[in-house]
Amino acid sequence: MRKEEGLEKRAQRVAKPVLEVLAGRVLDPPPLWLMRQAGRYLPEYREVRARVSGFLELCYTPELAVEVTLQPLRRFPLDAAILFSDILVVPHALGMEVRFLEGEGPKLEPLRGPADLARLDADRLHERLRPVYGTVATLARELPPRVTLIGFSGAPWTLACYMLEGGGSKDWLAARRAALAEPAFFERLIGLLTDSVVAYLSAQIAHGAEVVQLFDSWAGVLPESETRRWVIEPARRIAEALAARHPGVPLIAFPRGIGPLYPAFVEAVRPAGVGLDTTVPCGWARDALPGDTALQGNLDPVTLLVGGDPLAEEVARIRDAFRARPHIFNLGHGILPQTPVAHVEALISHLHSRGR
Ligand code: CP3
Repeated sequence: MRKEEGLEKRAQRVAKPVLEVLAGRVLDPPPLWLMRQAGRYLPEYREVRARVSGFLELCYTPELAVEVTLQPLRRFPLDAAILFSDILVVPHALGMEVRFLEGEGPKLEPLRGPADLARLDADRLHERLRPVYGTVATLARELPPRVTLIGFSGAPWTLACYMLEGGGSKDWLAARRAALAEPAFFERLIGLLTDSVVAYLSAQIAHGAEVVQLFDSWAGVLPESETRRWVIEPARRIAEALAARHPGVPLIAFPRGIGPLYPAFVEAVRPAGVGLDTTVPCGWARDALPGDTALQGNLDPVTLLVGGDPLAEEVARIRDAFRARPHIFNLGHGILPQTPVAHVEALISHLHSRGR
């Protein structure tokens, strides 16, 4: 936990560090949370996971989803809790079959073409996602006041990747081919997903999410013109729709791997915060992105896995690079299941050891 401060001072200064930084304030040390902070690197997560038959059951059982969301917060003084769910609940709620096979990742019955759009039924979205909203509502009541509740969704392009491919892929050929060869079909799919993501995030906010993060994990596989069309434009529409419905609720966008298009993305989408993936040079991001945009990231999950001197050096380097910027310390991608819990503790002590 942060050192005790006078209650009044604390209420003014660090009431909700993540929200303050997303409003443009610079905090030192920066607030911290970790992508995939609830997950298999925690023995208590593996214990709960073993009690359910499938991963989606965990996502759709509010008592268990609340429990695993809170697990990392009991161990570490994190500044945010991220709803425990998965990006693939949206395709599932649209009517696709989604399974998570041990050691193999997700498997879906892929969409083969325009006729398969009839398999998707947006009308039942909220009904099927109701348990997730229940998890959000309980978390909103139970979290300590200092901790910010983050909701999330996959972005349309990344969801389309899994829906067309039927699972993970090295090259996402089915999605990239469809985007180019069948643009009318692809446009309809992205449009439907954009509307679904707006409805889903909007409901999370209505149930108590204070921030929402948009994960576009595969934003980095497209050429420029298609990145603008299938990544930037849908994110812009989502940001615009959410700002109209929920003014003042910050969006963090994570267009992973988008590289030199980060500035174009931020200029078009205008998110309160932008997630920087592991490959982004900190100095470049600091200079290339608008000063009022909070930067989130970008420690390499492998550095956290390895620990020791590389971890200490990287934490100091990232923190120094963003010292004068609104910055939320995070990883540049999700925490790896093999990560020792002690390395997360070391990360926190490095982050809190200087400038206090
Ligand atoms: O703690 C948190 O960050 C919240 C929970 C969360 C999960 N997935 C839980 C999960 C979040 C935010 C996600 C996002 C997610 N899911 C993304 C975007 C971020 C990224 O990593 O790029 C993507 C692409 C997915 C899809 C997904 N879910 C895959 C590819 C896999 C299999 C790979 C793996 O790590 O097993 C999952 C399963 C998954 N999602 C697990 C967890 C804890 C592991 C499943 C298990 O426990 O059996």
